[in-house]
Amino acid sequence: MPVLALVGGQWGDEGKGKVVDQLAESADVVVRFSGGDNAGHTVINHLGEFKLHLVPAGIFTSRVLCIIGNGVVINPAVLMSEIEMLNKAGVDTSHLVISNRAHLVMPYHLLLDELEEKSRAGKALGTTKRGIGPAFADKTNRLGIRTCDLLDKDGLKERLTMVMDSKNTLFTKVYDAPPMSLDKIYDEYCVYADFLASYIKDTSVLLTQALARKQLVIMEGAQGALLDPDFGTYPYGTSSSPLSAGGSLGAGIAPNRIDKVLGIFKAYCTRVGNGPMPTELFDATGDEIRNIAHEFGTTTGRPRRIGWFDAVAARFSCFINGLTSVALTRLDVLDSIPSVKICTAYELNGELIDYFPASVADLEKCRPVYEELSGWNSPISHVRKFTDLPLEAQRYVRRIEELMGCEVGMTCCGPSREQVIHLKSVI
Ligand code: IMP
Repeated sequence: MPVLALVGGQWGDEGKGKVVDQLAESADVVVRFSGGDNAGHTVINHLGEFKLHLVPAGIFTSRVLCIIGNGVVINPAVLMSEIEMLNKAGVDTSHLVISNRAHLVMPYHLLLDELEEKSRAGKALGTTKRGIGPAFADKTNRLGIRTCDLLDKDGLKERLTMVMDSKNTLFTKVYDAPPMSLDKIYDEYCVYADFLASYIKDTSVLLTQALARKQLVIMEGAQGALLDPDFGTYPYGTSSSPLSAGGSLGAGIAPNRIDKVLGIFKAYCTRVGNGPMPTELFDATGDEIRNIAHEFGTTTGRPRRIGWFDAVAARFSCFINGLTSVALTRLDVLDSIPSVKICTAYELNGELIDYFPASVADLEKCRPVYEELSGWNSPISHVRKFTDLPLEAQRYVRRIEELMGCEVGMTCCGPSREQVIHLKSVI
């Protein structure tokens, strides 16, 4: 049985939650590997509709071991309420395990995210304000507090005292803000420690065992390739790597153990937050797609920016992720659009280019070159076989496949677990 890394191919919100929920039925382990509660994975299944921020979307299949990997930054308050919400809805969470190496999002990270965004003024990144950037910065700066620290309350106090000393200096001397109370944060985190202690384990041991038993492991990504700190639209991106390579580090699975990489792409593009998006639509078609698809952020509720499918960016995403197949989600959203466009190249400074530029200034200057295809003007939400799709929809999928240079293994035609068309096995 293989190890499958499942990653976002665009700017996040591609529907990874739905695909993980679907594939988890045949998996043994699902491990979330990056991001934090900036992610919002929506799952609709026989138990109801759920918006998950930290718990892996495999949680609904009770025999699946669900791991929050070392690469995730965890806000324990959010995780606690997510577990309680799931339990209330009758979802068993006894098969959830949290890596003892994962870093914690602390109250001062939330405040710093807010203050840093304010100080960027007109150049704000449009973060989710969940403290993600500051938490990953502390990890790299060796000022982080980890889940294993929750298991040693004396050690936690000592570490918190040292870290908060430097944070409070920053708040009072740089931002002219009041200091935060060490005792209040310590007491709060002791409550989380008591609640989460039984979930915190050395997950690398569990994953080693799963691999030895040749179990099917799904690595669940968050966000999307174009938000990657190295390859995305830097600095307009997130702070941990959503790529398959990030998955290796963030789950604790060596790169040579990953057999397949499935990239999730929407049949069009969306983006939340600021930064370049070459195919963005500012017209009535963009509004129509936003309304049909209800494109508002799961985590922040912000309206998502809408654009045509960008095959230049998608090809880049295929390459840097090493995709072995693609899942194309939300195809049904385009049902009533009379003609659909795909961006096949950019025009930059009067020249045609087929690569994704590194510089934000260049990306902002890129003009998309489109190929226009007829729409299918009929509902497809009931279709379960590719050949039963209207020919125009088949052509749209095949053209995207051709331009990306990667096979489409599945496509989704509605939000529920069943509304999936399988073209070939992705596992
Ligand atoms: P942060 O990750 O909260 O620091 O936000 C940085 C950028 O990534 C902002 O543009 C966010 O809107 C974007 N972002 C973060 N998480 C997600 C996600 O799950 N989906 C889509 N965009 C995201």
